Amino acid sequence: NKPKVVVCRHLGPAMPQLERRTDIDLVCWPEDRFCDRAWLLHNVKGATGVIVLLGDAVNEEFMAAAGQQLKVVSTMSVGYEHIDLQATARHGVRVGYTPDVLTEAGKPSDVLAITSQLCWGNLAWSPFKLCGPQLSTTLSSPKRTVGFLGFGRIAQATLARLVGFGITHALYTGSPSSNAQSVSARDAELQTRYRLQGLERVDADRLAQESDVVFVLTPGGKETYHLVGEAFLRKMKPLSILVNTSRGSVVDSDALAKALHEKWIWGAGLDVVEGEPFIGGDHPLVKEPRCVILPHVGSATTETRLDMATRAIDNVIGGIFGGEMPSELK
Ligand code: GLV
Ligand code: GLV
Repeated sequence: NKPKVVVCRHLGPAMPQLERRTDIDLVCWPEDRFCDRAWLLHNVKGATGVIVLLGDAVNEEFMAAAGQQLKVVSTMSVGYEHIDLQATARHGVRVGYTPDVLTEAGKPSDVLAITSQLCWGNLAWSPFKLCGPQLSTTLSSPKRTVGFLGFGRIAQATLARLVGFGITHALYTGSPSSNAQSVSARDAELQTRYRLQGLERVDADRLAQESDVVFVLTPGGKETYHLVGEAFLRKMKPLSILVNTSRGSVVDSDALAKALHEKWIWGAGLDVVEGEPFIGGDHPLVKEPRCVILPHVGSATTETRLDMATRAIDNVIGGIFGGEMPSELK
């Protein structure tokens, strides 16, 4: 009996890595959208390994549908908010994810629709029209502070790129759950490594008060739910910008809409939004002119997605045959 592997989305150019294996029975959701829950619960029955995406909840219901033989769940994402790690642990199911391989993916810049909307004529170059705060230092603003809520791989890669902007002061908060001992060793190491960027660990209040740009790069889940809410936003500077490229649940959308509307902060750039994907213009944030929303494409380069799919496959194969998983969540 070959182990059954269920794949919740066709993995494009990485798919042959699974299809050519003769030692597994492969079942793949056929459509190019998140797989239906009913399809998943039905097909996962008897599976030894499953590759999921971030829209597929892995919880007790999923475990019950799969059965005792399930050994590994491999998500093609670095985030794992959709996976109930207590449930997987209870059932002895190993979990794989795709860190590192997406850290370098580019973030598309926001594109103002001025030229395409044929209104450029009314907005021709003018000294202070269409201006917003600048990230790099200038004569009139010689100091720039960036703040990171969460300071893992992606935050560090972001800071490395900010060096070219002359950032001399960077703040971060630790994870709410990390234990004090290991934190201080890690903090000392980080502060040495990013000495030139003036890296300091602070609490969330100071980070909000002092940062010109706040990057939200925490994992999602219960611990970070609405970490950026009204209280945090009210402490931010009027010319500051909030950037969230982690999970929508970390930022309270209604509070952010209010903050933008009442100009507590200057603007927001979001790759993720609470309750995504939403459709239509009714969402309070869609109406805010200084809020740029991208449809969760932070890792969307062809190269990175191929690496993520390959890592998800290597994890599931390692897990079903009891071998090493290149990226196992522990
Ligand atoms: C993207 O959001 C990911 O978790 O990979
Ligand atoms: C801008 O285009 C400038 O010439 O200053």
